[in-house]
Amino acid sequence: MNLTIRLKTVADLAGKCTSLADIGTDHAYIPIYLMQKGLISKAIAADINEGPLERADKNIRKAGLSDKITLRLSNGLDNINDNEAETVVIAGMGGEIISRMLEKPKPAGIKRIVLQPMTDIPLVRRKIHENGMIITAERLAAEKDKIYTVIACEYGTCQQFSDEDYIVSPFIKDDPIFDEYIKKQLGICKNNLEKTKNAENKEFSAQFEYLISIYQKFI
Ligand SMILES: C[S@@+](CC[C@H](N)C(=O)[O-])C[C@H]1O[C@@H](n2cnc3c(N)ncnc32)[C@H](O)[C@@H]1O
Repeated sequence: MNLTIRLKTVADLAGKCTSLADIGTDHAYIPIYLMQKGLISKAIAADINEGPLERADKNIRKAGLSDKITLRLSNGLDNINDNEAETVVIAGMGGEIISRMLEKPKPAGIKRIVLQPMTDIPLVRRKIHENGMIITAERLAAEKDKIYTVIACEYGTCQQFSDEDYIVSPFIKDDPIFDEYIKKQLGICKNNLEKTKNAENKEFSAQFEYLISIYQKFI
């Protein structure tokens, strides 16, 4: 199976493990890919909706992996049992949804969580720290006109991040496409500032001005 750059980056950070749970699996491409590469030996493809699980089922059957990848109806990690997943992947969802999943009690036995939030990335970094984990790696993935952030975390404490670090993580500063990422973020913020600057509520434009001031430091 060939993955898109975004999904390949998520799969690369998940890497080798004994058991994987892919939360919000939809098509189940990540567990199928990792299984085909021989990097995992069992997986749960979980989703909150039946439709995506049917899609996942079709792809898993086509790949001949029904005996190794189990389908599971689950809101976040709610229906994942203790010691069922060493690595958890949560990709392609909004940062607020991912943050809510991070706040809930998690099953025992998880060693690594790989997150790919579509929005609210600073919030997700904060939630990682607020929920007893540390960031261990981050990668940027450019696909079409977007740059996605993929974050790996593990249990641990005492990782100090400043407000600025939550916005521009120290883990992405050496990424080959960091400069491109910063320019893109600046463009997005300037656009949003333009759209919000005449609004009555000044909170949004102030927030975009703040973000611009941070991103500009890295130009
Ligand atoms: C845009 S798809 C992402 C699919 C895949 N993970 C990817 O990155 O390409 C989001 C999937 O997350 C599922 N989802 C949304 N909220 C969820 C939740 N709270 N728990 C589990 N799955 C959820 C949706 O049903 C959908 O299939």
